[in-house]
Amino acid sequence: MNILVVGVGYVGTTTALLLAELGWKVTGFDTDKSKVSALARGTLPFYEPGLDQLLHAQLQKGNIRFISDPLQAIQHSQVIFICVGTPSQDDGSADLQYIRNAVTMIGSHMQEYKLLVMKSTVPVGTQKLVTKWIAEAQKSLLPFDVVSNPEFLREGNAVYDAFHPDRIVIGTNSSAAAQQVRMLYRDIDSPYLVTTPATAELIKYAANAFLATKISYMNELARLCDQIHVSITDVAAGIGYDARIGKSFLQAGIGYGGSCFPKDVNSLLHIATHHGSNLGLLQQVVHVNETQHQYFLEQIKEHLGSIDKKVIAVLGLAFKPGTDDLREAKSLKLISQLLKEGALIRVHDPVARLPDSSRQADVQQVKSVKDAIAGADAVIICTEWPEYAAEAWQHFVQEMRHAAVFDGRNLLDGTQMRAWGYHYYGIGNG
Ligand code: UGA
Repeated sequence: MNILVVGVGYVGTTTALLLAELGWKVTGFDTDKSKVSALARGTLPFYEPGLDQLLHAQLQKGNIRFISDPLQAIQHSQVIFICVGTPSQDDGSADLQYIRNAVTMIGSHMQEYKLLVMKSTVPVGTQKLVTKWIAEAQKSLLPFDVVSNPEFLREGNAVYDAFHPDRIVIGTNSSAAAQQVRMLYRDIDSPYLVTTPATAELIKYAANAFLATKISYMNELARLCDQIHVSITDVAAGIGYDARIGKSFLQAGIGYGGSCFPKDVNSLLHIATHHGSNLGLLQQVVHVNETQHQYFLEQIKEHLGSIDKKVIAVLGLAFKPGTDDLREAKSLKLISQLLKEGALIRVHDPVARLPDSSRQADVQQVKSVKDAIAGADAVIICTEWPEYAAEAWQHFVQEMRHAAVFDGRNLLDGTQMRAWGYHYYGIGNG
């Protein structure tokens, strides 16, 4: 069976490679020609551990190809995965223009039955809209199905998550289409859940919003912990043993970022408002997240006093470890605030690069943690890269002008850091 994947960003590329590994002949298409030619050469246009090996292996086996002219591929593919972006608009709603362009192109070029599988995260009701857009674009009436099949993989863990999903959700009213999608994942051992398309669409938003809620709950509680001298890390361990709560996503820090949580929570809020519903709890989740890095900055200022002309080492740019993705990264928000207050910044990240928009005389990206720290007045940890925990912190204490560490991800052992002579602050572990 030939499969076309439209949109080869991080979800599309991972999906295409998973399907190729499962034995299908896959074509990846994108309007971004530089992305397509990089992938065709075996170069990933983004950082994702393990994905480049899969790419090389599948290119070599001839199971995958990448193109920027999709017309032939549409005609020769029985199944088409839609993996294009759905960025946020100013009002929080998801922008469906890339979805509409993709499905209109498919509708106008199809010459026989097609199964469309929607992986992009889309508002409830999009499957219906897509069905309408395809029908409108068709030159003659041809049968097709549109199935919602949301993606749950995490950046930095994409390969593992793709091969070991917690569940596969198939949103369709057609049992034949559900069977066909299930067959595509034939070798994946996972629970399968067949729902209506709207339910599948909501499951995706509800999952991300629930995880964001866990994080904001812990972040708000962390502020209380600072007041009453209780460790949020110990509280997280204590509640996490309860299987009903679970151990994951209880890590307090400077807030969630990335291309998914902020966008999807806002989109869900927009959907609710559109339907006359009020998701007050979720509004508070956003509020806590948007103020958490400010709260962190206040702790820094309380200790350092004025930030003007202070040398600050920022460790970690990426929105989380294991990726070079800077979308909605809290590091960038903190850096811009620190620069406004007159700080001189040295940044380090093992893979992410400072974007052009943040480059200026007062901020410099350095190659090693040691270079960032030497002579600094404070260190701020924005991303919990494991290599930062493995650094020789006992030796850095002498290298700093003022040995203060503000740990925005509670990565380091505060008791040990204090014993080595640092002023150490970890969120909710004050
Ligand atoms: C998230 C979901 O976890 C995936 O299931 C989903 O498929 C994906 O969005 C998506 O919709 O495409 P991702 O954005 O890659 O995945 O990253 P996460 O690991 O979920 O982390 C998101 C943010 O939450 C990061 O900034 C991270 O630092 C923060 N976080 C996470 C915390 O602050 N505390 C935690 O305990 C966990």
